[in-house]
Amino acid sequence: MHGIPTKQFVDDFTLPVYGFGMWGHGGGWEIPNYDDEADAGTVTAIHHALSLGVTHFDTADKYGGGHAEELLGQAVKHYDRSKLLITTKVWNTEQSPHRMRLSLEASLQRLGMSYVDLYLLHTYPEPGVAIEDVMHTLDTFVAEGLVRHIGVSNFTPKRFDRAQACAQHRIVCNQVHYNMQWRQAEDLGIVRQCQDQGAALVAWRPLQRGMLGAEGGRILQPLEVKYRKTANQIALNWLVSQPNVTVVAKTSSPEHLEENLASFDWSLDSDDIAFIRKQYPDQQHGPDTVDLFHAGSDPA
Ligand SMILES: NC(=O)c1ccc[n+]([C@@H]2O[C@H](COP(=O)([O-])OP(=O)(O)OC[C@H]3O[C@@H](n4cnc5c(N)ncnc54)[C@H](OP(=O)(O)O)[C@@H]3O)[C@@H](O)[C@H]2O)c1
Repeated sequence: MHGIPTKQFVDDFTLPVYGFGMWGHGGGWEIPNYDDEADAGTVTAIHHALSLGVTHFDTADKYGGGHAEELLGQAVKHYDRSKLLITTKVWNTEQSPHRMRLSLEASLQRLGMSYVDLYLLHTYPEPGVAIEDVMHTLDTFVAEGLVRHIGVSNFTPKRFDRAQACAQHRIVCNQVHYNMQWRQAEDLGIVRQCQDQGAALVAWRPLQRGMLGAEGGRILQPLEVKYRKTANQIALNWLVSQPNVTVVAKTSSPEHLEENLASFDWSLDSDDIAFIRKQYPDQQHGPDTVDLFHAGSDPA
């Protein structure tokens, strides 16, 4: 296995094509699970990832009620900080200038770090909070050295443009649900916009929780034979074969991590990329179970 390739974006932002997702580590949504055995498993999984060259870790203030950030901080505390790329996010209930500062300070404390490399608005701000104030606050965090780069998540192109128009710094990424089956990012024009803007489209749930092979077996099996790769490796390669697309995937399993990391030192042929785009079965073009693209204040 070679090192994880990187892609280059606006604002001198470099991102490895594969990042380690922290959702599901440390508890559920807003709810921590302080379980010594599970926590040790997370720390071991992070150490294993580091040993294989993973440097991008993706977490959020709400994952495990902050416990995911604590575990990540604990796991990387003896590693060279300058070699890590840490993303965390702020949920839309915490995006007023005052609350966002408190939220960022709490995230940094839990991570045991003085800055994060990438700070994302997890969704568009909730009603009553002006996008101008939110973006100004993010710019201030960059000026203060608390945040290296700013980004968004689950933003429609219109909302991305509105946010960018209020910000001094470039928005370097939009993190959205995107994989061979879930295509809303294409339909809404997010893939195209990220390419045009020089921003990363960071695909969350790139493996659709390990379900893509089962659901797309008929299409993927001949390709698995042709490339001698698994369905998950084809799914990840398909995503990052596109300009500007990178992924964040979650796994606690050493075998799954090694499988996933062996997805990038080879290429799908362009006709197979197009074939999957067209023929992958049961494509989803509507919103996910929670429509994060339309959460928030201004029209999407
Ligand atoms: N911005 C947002 O709104 C948002 C929303 C959701 C997620 N995210 C981010 O995106 C990350 C990934 O999303 P996700 O965790 O929902 O979905 P995912 O990465 O597509 O799927 C994770 C699931 O797939 C399994 N898996 C991973 N590699 C596998 C393999 N090679 N073979 C079989 N199963 C495999 C994992 O199980 P094992 O642990 O057993 O391997 C886990 O259950 C999250 O951790 C989070 O950081 C962001």
